[in-house]
Amino acid sequence: MTRTALVTGGTRGIGAAISKALKGAGYNVAASYAGNDEAAAKFKAQTGIAVYKWDVASFDACAAGVKKVEAEVGPVDVLVNNAGITRDTPFHKMTLDQWNAVINTNLGSLFNMSRQVIEGMRARKFGRIINISSINGQKGQFGQVNYSASKAGDIGFTKALALETARGGITVNAICPGYINTEMVQAVPKDVLEQKILPLIPVNRLGEPEEIARAVVFLAADDSAFITGSTLSVNGGQYLA
Ligand SMILES: NC(=O)c1ccc[n+]([C@@H]2O[C@H](COP(=O)([O-])OP(=O)(O)OC[C@H]3O[C@@H](n4cnc5c(N)ncnc54)[C@H](OP(=O)(O)O)[C@@H]3O)[C@@H](O)[C@H]2O)c1
Repeated sequence: MTRTALVTGGTRGIGAAISKALKGAGYNVAASYAGNDEAAAKFKAQTGIAVYKWDVASFDACAAGVKKVEAEVGPVDVLVNNAGITRDTPFHKMTLDQWNAVINTNLGSLFNMSRQVIEGMRARKFGRIINISSINGQKGQFGQVNYSASKAGDIGFTKALALETARGGITVNAICPGYINTEMVQAVPKDVLEQKILPLIPVNRLGEPEEIARAVVFLAADDSAFITGSTLSVNGGQYLA
């Protein structure tokens, strides 16, 4: 049986690596994105993976988007909640818009997306929900009160939903990447990266998106059924939770 996987933010960065790895592992894959049509078209042309545009911060948009994916690709067996943003600034300068954008995109999306697929997973007695949290949700980070709060929330969401779904063949897990070589991290000033971030990573390099994708494929597998409610750190030894 070919299972269907939906990866939010699956057209760029870590999400693109996850989409490709799941396709390589034999899944039917759909990848969603927010607005970068050019990157999505390029990704689709390169991979043949179906792409869908909607805002994961909107419950109604998620409902319509998942309905379309399920009609065109298949019922979602594996949901990877990967879409995320940063709006970094020290808390005393943080605006309500910066707070709301990050909380709604990074944490609200877990409700907005998981709620659309959970009833089908329960009915079919199989499901995998994999939430991409962050090292900065585990340990906190200067300038990221909004982001760290959203990513810590992802971990709490994961644990509670894992308890509710454990008897129904559905697992819910979180992955906490450390610093990964994507546009999000390339946006960090070079001197900050070289002088402040790299020295903190024991393996002395950034992670690659494929190294997160590998963890997703592992958790998505049918025979990973005993792993639920866990938080998997993939961070080069930077933070040992
Ligand atoms: N990079 C790291 O070092 C790192 C470390 C720890 C955790 N993470 C987490 O890993 C995930 C992926 O990060 P990344 O670095 O790969 O990010 P990225 O390169 O900026 O890509 C983000 C993806 O999410 C999509 N997206 C953003 N907001 C969205 C929204 N409101 N609705 C739907 N899609 C949306 C983007 O769509 P568009 O292409 O249309 O913009 C894009 O496909 C995030 O949750 C991030 O917090 C990253």
